[in-house]
Amino acid sequence: MRSAPLFTAALWGTLAAVVFTSCGKPVSYAEARAVVDRRCVECHSAHPASRAFPIAPKGVMLDTAAQMKQWARRIQASVTVERTMPLANMSGMTDEERSLLGRWVDTGARIP
Ligand code: HEC
Repeated sequence: MRSAPLFTAALWGTLAAVVFTSCGKPVSYAEARAVVDRRCVECHSAHPASRAFPIAPKGVMLDTAAQMKQWARRIQASVTVERTMPLANMSGMTDEERSLLGRWVDTGARIP
């Protein structure tokens, strides 16, 4: 197999990238909270400010640390992979904020 060394190199490169990103500095709850407050709670709250969504869509409320923790996996998936949230990016979320929320989950979804 002539391509074996190339394949091996690619494999190690991928592994190194995964280890590098997952060993990043943990994102604090305060940092994640600030982003969720800015971009999500206008809809995902017990009392949404959004007139369009007077009731939290799908029952997803992100008012408390425990709720953020409970929804951590779906927050990460919808914001960084599927990019379906924020809905039509109505709250103007930046790529930096998406990445920060993703890293908050990757580094353990810490809450106080
Ligand atoms: C403008 C209103 C609005 C904003 C802002 C918003 N969402 Fe949503 N969200 C919705 C609606 C509407 C649904 C239901 C979509 C559906 O029925 O498929 C939803 C569904 C969800 C769901 C459940 C469905 C799933 O994909 O798991 C999650 C989790 C979620 N949103 C997370 C977030 C996060 C995190 C943010 C902030 C980054 C956010 N949303 C911002 C309106 C919003």
